Order: sequence, then C-alpha cells, then structure tokens
Amino acid sequence: MRIQEALRLPAEPPVRSAAPLPSAGDRPAALAFHDVRFRYADDLPYVHHGVTFDVPARGMTAFVGPSGAGKTTVFSLVERFYDPESGEITLDGRSLADWELSSLRAAIGYVEQDAPVLSGSLRDNLLLGNGEAADDTLAGVLKTTRLDGLAAKLPKGLDTLVGHRGTKLSGGERQRVAIARALLRRPRLLLLDEATSQLDAVNEAALRDTVADVSRTTTVLVVAHRLSTVTMADRIVVMDAGSVRAVGTHRELVTADPLYAELAATQFLATGG
Ligand SMILES: Nc1ncnc2c1ncn2[C@@H]1O[C@H](COP(=O)(O)OP(=O)(O)OP(=O)(O)O)[C@@H](O)[C@H]1O
Ligand SMILES: [Mg+2]
Repeated sequence: MRIQEALRLPAEPPVRSAAPLPSAGDRPAALAFHDVRFRYADDLPYVHHGVTFDVPARGMTAFVGPSGAGKTTVFSLVERFYDPESGEITLDGRSLADWELSSLRAAIGYVEQDAPVLSGSLRDNLLLGNGEAADDTLAGVLKTTRLDGLAAKLPKGLDTLVGHRGTKLSGGERQRVAIARALLRRPRLLLLDEATSQLDAVNEAALRDTVADVSRTTTVLVVAHRLSTVTMADRIVVMDAGSVRAVGTHRELVTADPLYAELAATQFLATGG
C-alpha cells in the first residue's frame, strides 16, 4: 500500500471504525521563516540572527550545518516551544502566533533526534499519539516505515514487549517507530531530526525509503546527518552560526557553497555531528 492510501481515511468512515483520527487534514503545509531572531534567554547570545527560508507544501527539505548552527532550534520554534524575538514564522501563510496551539501541534509530527522507545509492546509504542488508528491504517504505516519486516521477525509480532524490559531495538528501528507514531497522527508537516548514530545499511536504506515515500504527500523537514539523505532532498538549507548561508540542491551546493562542499566531504560521512 502506498502512503497516500495508508494515510487517507475514507470520506465516510466504516460503521465499525473507532473514533476518527485527529482532524489535522491531509493537505501538506507550507512553512516560511522571515528574518527570525531568537535567543533562549535575554542573557544568552542570539541563536538565530535573522533566519529566512521558504518551504513549499510537499517534498523534502534538508537542513544541514555545523553543530550549534541552530538547526534543531528551527524545529523548536516551529512547534512553538519558544517564540522568536522578532521576525515571523508562517504556516500556510498564517503567522504561528495566530494559530491555536493545539491545532498547530496537531498539524505537526515531530521525530526527535534520540527517539525514545517506552516500555510496553511495539503496538503500544506505535499507537501512543493515536490509540484509535484503524488496523489497516496501522498496517499501511508499518509498511511505509518498513517496520512490517521487524514485526514479522519478533516472537509475538506487534505484541512483543520492547524497550527497557523487552526486545532492544536498534537506533534506526527506534527512529522508524517514532516516525510511524508521528505518521499515525497524519501530520501535515513532518519534522525529523535525523539520528546521528551510525546506522547499518539496512536501516539506513529503510529510513531513506520511508522519508522519500512520506515526502510525496507530506511536507517533510529533515535535519540531515547523512549524505544519502541530502542527495535525495528537493532542497537543502545550509545553516551556519544562526543564519541561512545557502539554499539549493546537493549538486548545486557542492559547487556553489564551500562550507557545504566541506560538510558533504567530511561531516556527513562521520559518525558524530
Ligand atoms: N534549551 C536551550 N537553552 C539554551 N541554549 C540552547 C538550548 N538549546 C540549544 N541551545 C544553544 O543554541 C545553539 C543552537 O543549538 P541547536 O540545537 O539549534 O544546534 P544544531 O544546529 O541543532 O546543532 P547539532 O548539529 O549539534 O544538533 C547552540 O549554541 C546551543 O548550545
Ligand atoms: Mg540539533
């Protein structure tokens, strides 16, 4: 099943289905930062010195840059964990300040860098954000995130205990569980802070395929730590010391931006960062 089918509910839910999914809507969201200045506290230095970029609805945008450039802070501001000191952030052309916080957060799926797995079954972990998801929706999301293979291998399938007291999941598997959890909430904007830990080839390919699939129907923003992610991004925003220094595709930036060329040659291939 493709992601479109997996995530789209029938117009008339079948009578036996449980409560409807949160009504975040299917339409992918457009996001823009306009000259955003931000610092975490009045006595701390600015982390964003006038950040400006535009992300159209649908497709994948990768954020890259040295450690401390302000990439994760972009996501924190989009979620409104903090508000900018000046400048404006808009979602679908509407200032974040004008959104009701609950509708804003319902529209966003946020997958953190070190996605935690809680104790409980794999199913519990997946349904955390939406306990009402129908079985076929869950099956579709499992397929999209390539977790169907993992579930098939586990002794009790989706009912296998994971996390602390159960089967340990690898970093790549944990992040895919977190993506699946976010997708079950049908976000219009998916924020993915890519895990920096080294992934095995199978997990790396699975994550890449998942993100490519999702970005066909959803707006996906990825803080990228891997070359395989940036090479398939529709556009890359290069951040350095709190501002955007270049935007383009991998091919364009390798020749146009020396910092990007250096990152591509070194940091993306390294374990940390
Ligand atoms: N909660 C916070 N309170 C104070 N300062 C913070 C906080 N979070 C981040 N910072 C500071 O803001 C700057 C940007 O941090 P941010 O996490 O956005 O960087 P990043 O580009 O995501 O880096 P990395 O690639 O290492 O994840 C850093 O100097 C960091 O120390
Ligand atoms: Mg970060």
